Amino acid sequence: MISENYKMKKTLSAKTILRRKGEAAKPTRLAGIFPAASFLFLVTTSFAQTSIILQADNGKEKINKNIYGHFAEHLGHCIYGGFYVGDTSLIPNSNGVRNDIIEALKKLKIPTLRWPGGCFADTYHWKDGIGPKNKRPVIVNRWWGGVTEDNSFGTHDFLDLCEKIGAEPYLAANVGSGTVQELEDWVQYVNFDGTSPMSKLRKENGREKPWNVKMWGVGNEAWGCGGNMKPEHYADVYRQYATFMTDWTNSDHLFRVASGANVDDYHWTEVMMRDIPRNMLEGVALHHYSFVEWNNKGSATDFTEQQYFATMKTAWRMNELVTRHSTIMDRYDPEKRTALVVDEWGGWYNVEPGTNPGFLYQQNTMRDAMIAGVTLNIFNNHCDRVRAANLAQTVNVLQAVILTNKEKMILTPTYHVMEMYNVHQDATLIPLTIAGSDYILGDQKLPAISASASKDKNGAVHVSLVNIDAGKSQDVTIDIRGAKYTAISGRILASAKLQDYNSFDTPDKIKPAPFKNFKKTDSQVSVTLPPFSVVVLELK
Ligand code: AHR
Repeated sequence: MISENYKMKKTLSAKTILRRKGEAAKPTRLAGIFPAASFLFLVTTSFAQTSIILQADNGKEKINKNIYGHFAEHLGHCIYGGFYVGDTSLIPNSNGVRNDIIEALKKLKIPTLRWPGGCFADTYHWKDGIGPKNKRPVIVNRWWGGVTEDNSFGTHDFLDLCEKIGAEPYLAANVGSGTVQELEDWVQYVNFDGTSPMSKLRKENGREKPWNVKMWGVGNEAWGCGGNMKPEHYADVYRQYATFMTDWTNSDHLFRVASGANVDDYHWTEVMMRDIPRNMLEGVALHHYSFVEWNNKGSATDFTEQQYFATMKTAWRMNELVTRHSTIMDRYDPEKRTALVVDEWGGWYNVEPGTNPGFLYQQNTMRDAMIAGVTLNIFNNHCDRVRAANLAQTVNVLQAVILTNKEKMILTPTYHVMEMYNVHQDATLIPLTIAGSDYILGDQKLPAISASASKDKNGAVHVSLVNIDAGKSQDVTIDIRGAKYTAISGRILASAKLQDYNSFDTPDKIKPAPFKNFKKTDSQVSVTLPPFSVVVLELK
């Protein structure tokens, strides 16, 4: 994506932000149809029918909670001015990290956090970010805006933050411009409990016990900003770097992730699986973003239904991508020892007017809620192979779950979807089949309904449903085979317009509400899903 990033940066300044083209379809108010929702809901009057069969007694795969991971890069105001305000800030903080963000991420049950990049990772020298803050070198962030940063947020700050929010750290190592020694030292610095040069240095810097970091990315986008390598060359580089990584404890092995394919570069995955031995490769990455057109992304908030449809088409494409990359992996690894790690995904639009084009700051609408709902259902349904993923990015960058403005902080619709879906973390996937209607626009169509289901350790079943249709409600019947449930409850995320978002003035415009628009018989549940809505049901 490197050359395309450059192209994007060049075209951005010349780009005219799309102006609103008027309402797509005139909505009709159906007063009282969703009595539990606290908002006035606007929908069209047409309905369509979908049927889902849940095999409630048939689940065997676990949905790894790490599918619900996040990504925080040194990019724009994700770290500096986002997570990290410094310990002299008037904004309440713990060692410089905003307390409101810590609380929001705890509530989200964020399982993993990837850092420090992205493209930034292959320029990052971790020793610049340890020791007394006033002695750390100032560096230029060459990928993202060419701004300088003072390295005041480094390894200790990140790993301590992960401890505070209860997330497992996922460190992305510098392979593009770093050395094998540098990476070996980093592993020893954060993981070694005995006496060694690096553990001594760690202790001198105030941390007695190691953090035991398990997840490591061995470079990032090696085909692009990570070094423009060919897959055959990178596979050899990976083998070399991975050889010198050890967990230094002999108890629990590292989870090493090879830099993976750009979207549909199936040859890349083929070479990783063919040329890297299974016992050196715990994960292979995949990056895929959703957008209108890569070279004409359009506004995050001011978009037409055509642009919405195009974005959802790229979001749905994730299903094809994980299926086809998994099929290649299956040939080399039928036992599924190596995970597919989608460590960058999300919606990508033009930056908000007036903001730095290199900072990738964008608002987050109901369109993003649709991307999140559909994508997470895809990951759940492929949990046999997709065992980790990271939304790009956590704060103030791309499809963020949190936006900040000085002392203010808001939760985006994407945050709410991820919070509603966190019931699936570490639950057992319940296989389902869907037969339903399409979302049709002109001569194009997409599946209107996306769904996944799981059973948690207490036996409760959760079904997450998304209706991406911009105009039609969907009647959905869910046949439950192999089990009986007596109680049902639900939550819905919906809003009057697709373009709606939470702003710093109206932070709670979009938030989950109780959902009661269902009927239940012995073995069947019927629900009506409003246009562009996400519903999570609980059956007990
Ligand atoms: O998430 C933004 C950028 O997108 C990352 O730095 C890079 O890995 C990808 O191209």
